[in-house]
Amino acid sequence: GLISRGENQSVPLPPTAEIAKRSLLIAFGSQSGNAESLAKRLAREAASRGFTARAAGLDSLQPSDLIREQNVLLITSTWGEGDMPDNAISFWDNINQNGSSPKLDGVKYSVLALGDKNYGETFCLAGKKIDARLAELGATRVTERVDCDVEFDELAKTWSSTALSALETGKEISVTVVAAVPPAKEIEEKGYSKKNPFPAPLIANIALNASGSSKDTRHIAFSLAGSGLNYEVGDALGVYVKNCPEVVDAIISAHSLDPQAEAALPDGGTAFLRDALISNYEVRHLHGITPNQLLNTADFVTSLRKLQPRLYSIASSIKAHPEEVHLCVGAVRYDVHGVQHKGVASTFLADRLALSETTGIFFHVAKHFRLPADLSKPVIMVGPGTGIAPFRAFLEEREATGATGKNWLFFGDQRRTTDFLYHDQIIEWVQKGLLTRLDTAFSRDQEEKIYVQTRMLTAAAEMWQWLEEGAHFYVCGDAKRMAKDVDAALHEIIQTAGGRSAEEASAYVADMKKNKRYQRDVY
Ligand code: 2AM
Repeated sequence: GLISRGENQSVPLPPTAEIAKRSLLIAFGSQSGNAESLAKRLAREAASRGFTARAAGLDSLQPSDLIREQNVLLITSTWGEGDMPDNAISFWDNINQNGSSPKLDGVKYSVLALGDKNYGETFCLAGKKIDARLAELGATRVTERVDCDVEFDELAKTWSSTALSALETGKEISVTVVAAVPPAKEIEEKGYSKKNPFPAPLIANIALNASGSSKDTRHIAFSLAGSGLNYEVGDALGVYVKNCPEVVDAIISAHSLDPQAEAALPDGGTAFLRDALISNYEVRHLHGITPNQLLNTADFVTSLRKLQPRLYSIASSIKAHPEEVHLCVGAVRYDVHGVQHKGVASTFLADRLALSETTGIFFHVAKHFRLPADLSKPVIMVGPGTGIAPFRAFLEEREATGATGKNWLFFGDQRRTTDFLYHDQIIEWVQKGLLTRLDTAFSRDQEEKIYVQTRMLTAAAEMWQWLEEGAHFYVCGDAKRMAKDVDAALHEIIQTAGGRSAEEASAYVADMKKNKRYQRDVY
């Protein structure tokens, strides 16, 4: 039999037959935590199949780790416009060094890419790029890459078991014993989860805009009483929602469907077609489709996407509001050619869920969006519109924990008189001194547009000073335009106030990301 060569062996030896273990590295590039959870789940599955497996973030890995471990399964999401997740940037750079790229001959690997088909061309781009690059560097792909859309669970399972089987049949077996991974059942989280959501009663639905505003932003609160649930600021809340019955009825009548026809449900079983369309399927894209393009049967539901729970950044600290969780939700309603469109989740929360009625919720841990552990570190937060949500939570947390670090908030919206979300609480924080500095940008209060990044640029010298003092920089809100412009402003400040070249500014920002001092929650 094979003999263990492990050096720091602290676990009792398993029976000889089980000693020969394949070492497996499960690397993840994660922005919102999905790739990370999948990697950890895969590590448990691999351990139960006899691998010595560990899951590690790409930010903690060097190419040499891949060469040492030989068997590598890599799970990565894509974010923004086909970009690497923040924790994968340095790894990506390291495998793309001109002239000094590592040789990965002997490394066996496979890639699972997470993405969102709504992004079209850039769907799963980060995973595709890494997959291609590893092959270029000489690594052997043991299973084809799998690209997952938002509903990734089933595909991820298939990929995992195929990839593990492929590695099991590999000839080279490296013998290493590291700390044993406990079997799945011991570390599986107990209680409520995405699959088993807590039915939380709605306890507040408050309009945050004054009348006359073109926006309708709501402060939404759920009770967690009796759930035993807890969360940290920076986390997101998953909310199970339903489609608008009027929208569903319009589809049913436009296509002359029978509302009481028997329709298959995504997870098995059947229901009346109308109920299935309200509670179980995404119907938004059916809205504009011309009549009779659908088969006049209930079978077409099997071609629809399962209705997904929606994630919202949490707007409260549980330390300030025991047994409660709060959201800041912008109700999405707009007209296209006279047809009213409504955001499914936002109007479900704003209009259709009654007070004290319950809906399923679960917590989505977001380790990539965290306050500094060191309470004395300064914090800069940029959160226009509903992007204020996690920063209300951060400030409540900083107040509750007595954090001594300085706090700087940039908030923006259309008009001061109608759209200054959480105005009273924010002003109180300024008066108490919790908010060291507040900069507001009301874009429509004057002729020219003033945005949060306009205010950042005006305050460049002080921004630079805070950054040099080790400030953590956070951005939440619109990804397409705002987060990009804020990122550009950050680079500009480092150049103008910090006296750096464009390349040096990029390196400075990359370094901030690496040290988790630049964190974004953008959508
Ligand atoms: P606008 O709609 O008047 O152009 C929250 O929605 C705020 O973000 C609004 O004041 C909105 O301004 C502003 N906003 C729009 N585009 C932006 C961008 N590219 N960068 C920063 N803020 C922006």
